[in-house]
Amino acid sequence: MTSMTTPRTWSPEVFTAAVGDAVWAPSIHNSQPWRFRSTADGVDVLLDEAGRLAACDPDGRMARMSCGAAAYNLRLAFAAAGRPAQFRLGGGRVVVHLWPGPPHPPTPLERRLHWQIRRRHTNRGPFADCRIDPSVPAQLTDAARREGGWLAFIEGKQAITSTAEVIRAADARLRADPAYVRELRAWSTAADERVEGIGRGAAGAAPHPAELLTRRDFGGPGHDMNRDVAHDPVVAVFGVLGDGPHEAVQAGMALQGVLLTAADLGVAAAMYSQPTEMAETRGWLRDIVGGLHDPQMVLRFGYAPTTCYTNRRPVADAILL
Ligand SMILES: Cc1cc2nc3c(=O)[nH]c(=O)nc-3n(C[C@H](O)[C@H](O)[C@H](O)COP(=O)(O)O)c2cc1C
Repeated sequence: MTSMTTPRTWSPEVFTAAVGDAVWAPSIHNSQPWRFRSTADGVDVLLDEAGRLAACDPDGRMARMSCGAAAYNLRLAFAAAGRPAQFRLGGGRVVVHLWPGPPHPPTPLERRLHWQIRRRHTNRGPFADCRIDPSVPAQLTDAARREGGWLAFIEGKQAITSTAEVIRAADARLRADPAYVRELRAWSTAADERVEGIGRGAAGAAPHPAELLTRRDFGGPGHDMNRDVAHDPVVAVFGVLGDGPHEAVQAGMALQGVLLTAADLGVAAAMYSQPTEMAETRGWLRDIVGGLHDPQMVLRFGYAPTTCYTNRRPVADAILL
């Protein structure tokens, strides 16, 4: 007699499709530092130590964030398939273990966020000089909170200028380190077809000295004029409560929740993690938002045309058998 009980874990087809969504998560320098493994009772997300960015991410915090963002995509994929995941965070190589909860149809929000996984991308082009819908900051803050994160919007010209100065100082310090520059060049690629790193199109133009918020220089072509004319950029500092390995993974989940929500609202996002990569500049950033916990990222939101997407490695390469 065949049993009609619900299978213990997701089918191979659902697993592979979910990994196909997971890999579209953002990751530091598009390094895709993740692997996925189907287990007897669920799925492991593993940190790929081999891809560690020794110069810009020596302790692996941002690699863990990237894995957290990928795990968030997995959760949405499983929810969209009607078998939502439960999960626990791990401190070792397995950074998240997920297993199926009771079957449940996806909520409208899960459906929408799942739909945005392959549409979301990082904007390194200019933002339009127009105000965002006033309801957006609260919706993004809610998205962060749902995953245990916080989002502090920077209010007023003075505070935005101070934040910009911290980003500029952090970026200059990083660029003074030859190992950092070598690593950045290795991940910035002129070949748009490379399946990892940041291609020429996605890199955007080289940062202009007059730009308020100093973008990381991924080797894009130089330009004479700063085309980003926005006078009132919408800038927020993002973090979670605490700063250990678990919190880094949680930060990645909350970050991806915010980014997909922004995409769902038609809002583009840019990321500036340079100030979080050194203790001193991270402290300055924390002081600006009066925070108790170290920030994980500076985000900018606004309206912008779709720019070039980055590529991903084939899904099969991300799966451990
Ligand atoms: C932890 C983390 C830090 C990042 N820091 C930056 C940054 O400082 N500057 C930047 O332009 N993009 C940053 N990104 C975005 C990645 O470069 C981007 O996600 C990756 O290239 C994949 O492209 P996509 O987001 O368009 O899919 C960061 C992403 C993560 C997850």
